[in-house]
Amino acid sequence: MSETTERRTLVTGGAGFIGSHLVDALLTRGEQVICLDNFDDYYSPERKRRNAAHHAQHDRYVLVEGDIRDRATIDAIFEEYQPQRVAHLAAMAGVRASIERAPLYTEVNVNGTINVFEAARQHEVENLVLASTSSVYGRTEQTPFLEDQSTDGALAPYPATKKACEVMAHAYHNMFGMNITALRFFTVYGPRVRSDMMAYIVMDRILRGETIRLFNGGEMHRDWTFVADITNGVVAALDKPLGFEIMNIGRGQPVRLGDFVEIIEELVGKNAVIDEVPAPASEPPITYANVDKARRLLGYEPQVSIQDGLLETWNWFKDEIAAP
Ligand SMILES: NC(=O)c1ccc[n+]([C@@H]2O[C@H](COP(=O)([O-])OP(=O)(O)OC[C@H]3O[C@@H](n4cnc5c(N)ncnc54)[C@H](O)[C@@H]3O)[C@@H](O)[C@H]2O)c1
Repeated sequence: MSETTERRTLVTGGAGFIGSHLVDALLTRGEQVICLDNFDDYYSPERKRRNAAHHAQHDRYVLVEGDIRDRATIDAIFEEYQPQRVAHLAAMAGVRASIERAPLYTEVNVNGTINVFEAARQHEVENLVLASTSSVYGRTEQTPFLEDQSTDGALAPYPATKKACEVMAHAYHNMFGMNITALRFFTVYGPRVRSDMMAYIVMDRILRGETIRLFNGGEMHRDWTFVADITNGVVAALDKPLGFEIMNIGRGQPVRLGDFVEIIEELVGKNAVIDEVPAPASEPPITYANVDKARRLLGYEPQVSIQDGLLETWNWFKDEIAAP
């Protein structure tokens, strides 16, 4: 790694969907990036390896294959590479998958995050950005979601662990003066999207002629946010230490699930086979970001429409996933 580039950022979960796009963005800006990822098998580790291979030739990129549950690994990274900033994205993601796996989600998302906070504190990092989630809002009637409304009604272990991280982030800021910004991402999609997410599932099943389980007849809304908008928000937050803040990073334009499926049907050129099922208790009827705070504090401005974002996602899917 060259000594000349000043900014060194540790990206945990940097081989994943959002993390790999963040690594792209940081490398494009001329930064040094240390990626820590354990290539967990929540979905194809092979896909994550492809994401990471994509960066491997870069001389300002280092990959450390390791686990955030292992404090020694994190300490060794800080000692060797001295990152000034941390984007902490490594996590067990996925609401429904967390239902039967609360212990694992707690170990990775809570204990692993504490390891990252501890190392960041001891090495006096300038700024830490934490990936949180719109799921912390649970089933609320108050839309659009504002950062200061209640997030005490988690519907599943996953949002409960993310909420715990936010609360612990506040404690670390309070105790040690650390700069930590928690960003609540709203349903992210784009190229390299996880295979458990709706955009991937709908494209995959339509293409194969397989049935899609559609919750509540498609009468649910999600504030789908294109991954480049999300990474712009993360980069802006990394650039601006703010003490402690929590911010929504979403699109601010919820889309009906049924309409989301229709856009994909048009892109694929085939109709979906739909099985209408009631939404599970873990699923809120709507997510809807108010992004005024991020706009004000970070200059965040989501740019990508659902049509353009899904077109880009489909182009990736067709070339990288569907192609033999
Ligand atoms: N995708 C979304 O819609 C969304 C929405 C809200 C929040 N988030 C959050 O954003 C972050 C990134 O999500 P994503 O969609 O890119 O998921 P992802 O699963 O693609 O990325 C997470 C990465 O973390 C790695 N990881 C998991 N456990 C680890 C461990 N113990 N040690 C080291 N690495 C580990 C995984 O291998 C993976 O590469 C997560 O914190 C997630 O909770 C995502």
